Amino acid sequence: MALFSSSMRVWRSVLSFIVAGLSYGVYHSTEASHHYSHQNIHQTHSLFSNNQPYRTAFHFQPHHNWMNDPNGPMRYKGVYHMFYQHNPKGATWGNIAWGHSVSRDLVNWAPLPLALSPAESYDINGCWSGSATILHGQGHSNKPALLYTGVGPNQKQTQNLALPLNLSDPFLRDWVRSPLNPLIAPTSLTQINATSFRDPTTAWLPHDGFWRILVGSQRRDRGIALLFKSKDFVHWVKAKHPLYSAKHTGMWECPDFFPVFINSTFGVETSTLHDDHFRLKHVLKLSLIDLAQDYYLIGSYNVTRDSFIPDKGFEDTELSSILRYDYGKFYASKTFYDDSKRRRILWGWVNESSAKKDDIQKGWSGIQAIPRSVWLHKSGKQLVQWPIKEIEKLRSKNPLTWRSKVLEAGSLLHLPGVTAAQADVEVTFKVNELAEKAKELKQIGGKRKVTDPRSLCGEKGGIGPFGLLVLASKGLQEHTSVFFKVFKLKIDHNTTKLVVVMCSDQSRSSLNHENDLSSYGAFLDVDPLHQNLSLRSLIDHSVVESFGGKGKVCITARVYPTLAINDEAHLFVFNDASSNLNVTTLTAWSMKKARVNSIN
Ligand code: FRU
Repeated sequence: MALFSSSMRVWRSVLSFIVAGLSYGVYHSTEASHHYSHQNIHQTHSLFSNNQPYRTAFHFQPHHNWMNDPNGPMRYKGVYHMFYQHNPKGATWGNIAWGHSVSRDLVNWAPLPLALSPAESYDINGCWSGSATILHGQGHSNKPALLYTGVGPNQKQTQNLALPLNLSDPFLRDWVRSPLNPLIAPTSLTQINATSFRDPTTAWLPHDGFWRILVGSQRRDRGIALLFKSKDFVHWVKAKHPLYSAKHTGMWECPDFFPVFINSTFGVETSTLHDDHFRLKHVLKLSLIDLAQDYYLIGSYNVTRDSFIPDKGFEDTELSSILRYDYGKFYASKTFYDDSKRRRILWGWVNESSAKKDDIQKGWSGIQAIPRSVWLHKSGKQLVQWPIKEIEKLRSKNPLTWRSKVLEAGSLLHLPGVTAAQADVEVTFKVNELAEKAKELKQIGGKRKVTDPRSLCGEKGGIGPFGLLVLASKGLQEHTSVFFKVFKLKIDHNTTKLVVVMCSDQSRSSLNHENDLSSYGAFLDVDPLHQNLSLRSLIDHSVVESFGGKGKVCITARVYPTLAINDEAHLFVFNDASSNLNVTTLTAWSMKKARVNSIN
């Protein structure tokens, strides 16, 4: 602590910086996506040098080169499979093939040869995203099948099938294309735009014996989830109506559609439409290309009409009121049902925030977020996500632990003895002052309804900020701040309410300003008068994945400190509320390195 007590003054100026940096200006979200141009780049990568401070220790990434979307996750014969959009020739997007890795625990991964790479006329320009379905019923017993988008001449997109060569190989090393490919091609009859027709979902099989899939599309600025049906998985017919569509949302990439239980954290197999014990809801997830963000709707699926009716509150097409899996960097996600643990697991791509030249220099780009279990909150109003249990086996045996500790107003406390560049931290705050201060809080927004939570992260007034300062350099020149603030807010014409915002501020995360230093924020639906505020952050060199309110809000950020790297990174807890608060529990674990796609 002595080391840092001199930092207290710096700290004050840090906080004012947080507030200043969080003005609207920094939200010019570059959220850089990939561009559909072909690239054959001969890159010299420095992966084998020791100078790789941004390489992650327990996040999924290929051994080298580019990765984007997760594809076809599944479990087969006790082995988890992860496929991913991969450029085998460079660290930028292009030459897209399906990378393939396997694991027995979702933590340690072994690389396998590419599962699919451009070869046929219909996929010569890329094997794009798709999904795995374990075929059952109709004489099939647990046969995995991959549906993917092939990109042919003129960027024409079609849907294609690949099956394992050898079903007795649990690693499913070899995949064979169907001779009937392309199975679904856009024609003038179907009125599908041939360059906006991609990313088939996992199929589901209702009792009428017709498999269903969704394919992402758009017509003008209307995003569309097209529905196709098939008796034999090979001949597909477009349903009369899309499952769902919404105007002004642009192209829908990587749709995902799955059932969730009401009142249970267990996952549900994708084809299940009825259960004897629990009622079901359905989730429709859409990846909006224009924003590079994943949104989801909760609603009811009517199989006879093949329609999806969003619940009240989700029918609004105003994007700001629709929920996201993650309010930071997280895109093109996909879930699968893990029958061994009766859970639904979510994978999502976390892009770099660095300049392209830096990606080329480091020889890789893109990671996957830690797989998350996902279920419907008991309120029925939102999903909850939590890192899979298995990741906890990387936690050190001797964590730093606090129980009921007063965190004085204006304090910044160093958490010693933790490898701060590779850590898992859980903290719970009890905001003592809330009960008294809540009444006095000035209402933010005046007559205006505040809809963008990011604008509140740097707003004066309210209670806070308080939270964690991660990947911080000794002198605090660099740090990423993950925190809460509590405000009184106008909700509609008649109601004001205490609201919690959760923020992740990257504006001071790196002295290299070529990085995207955008900050993120989200409303957290927790009543701060009656519930403690909990925060968990998984810190892994260049990524900070934070979970607020036990998984009600997730924010993932990429950061590239120049000083706060490896042993030079520090971890703090802070309270800049105007009075003391109580840390009811805090546990900080150093994290071990996982074996992720290492070659020897
Ligand atoms: C989403 C996406 C998909 C496409 C793939 C191409 O990030 O654009 O729509 O299939 O990436 O790599």
